[in-house]
Amino acid sequence: MTDTSSPADVVRPLLRTRQVREFTDVPVEREALDALADVARWSGSSRNNQPWRFIIVTDRATLRQLADSGMPVTRALQTATAAIAITIPEQPGWKISHAYDEGRAAERILVGANLLGLGAGIVWISGEGRDLAGGLLGLPEDRFVRTVVALGHPTEAARQPKSDPGDARLPRDQTVLHERWQGDGEST
Ligand SMILES: Cc1cc2nc3c(=O)[nH]c(=O)nc-3n(C[C@H](O)[C@H](O)[C@H](O)COP(=O)(O)O)c2cc1C
Repeated sequence: MTDTSSPADVVRPLLRTRQVREFTDVPVEREALDALADVARWSGSSRNNQPWRFIIVTDRATLRQLADSGMPVTRALQTATAAIAITIPEQPGWKISHAYDEGRAAERILVGANLLGLGAGIVWISGEGRDLAGGLLGLPEDRFVRTVVALGHPTEAARQPKSDPGDARLPRDQTVLHERWQGDGEST
């Protein structure tokens, strides 16, 4: 941190990391994908188990088929030029732990993409779409995919703020408490 940077300035790239669902046709560079995969695999996990295996997808046909597997929530994959699928083992008793680990890795990919000037969006694959995605990605029986992070260069429209500054999240005084719970969640 330089002398002139406030804590708020330093963490601003994290505040600026938002969901992107629309991408240009420009491919994501291989070096960027490798860097994002490194960011993902360096995420912490419960007991350092590292339950994930990440599949980088750049084949457009596969990306579009993944998009078809669960519209409209999968729509970011309609224009994505790359994606990272986070695959997780089916292990009864570890479901919550694995979901937590998966979320940590997914968010890191979003932040990393933002730092690289790319856009990223979380896509959840559920229901029958999960079998379809498993087939497309050639997953073994004991592994599934729930989160696919869509990646690409954001379109001009996707770069525009989706809401007025400050409107996209509840205000700090409604979400952050000090020392103990107060009233109905609103700090005094
Ligand atoms: C667990 C989880 C699952 C999500 N699944 C999807 C999804 O399937 N499709 C999608 O477009 N966005 C998905 N999102 C993204 C949320 O819609 C997004 O985080 C939220 O709208 C805030 O977006 P913003 O950061 O751009 O304001 C998911 C987010 C999380 C945390």
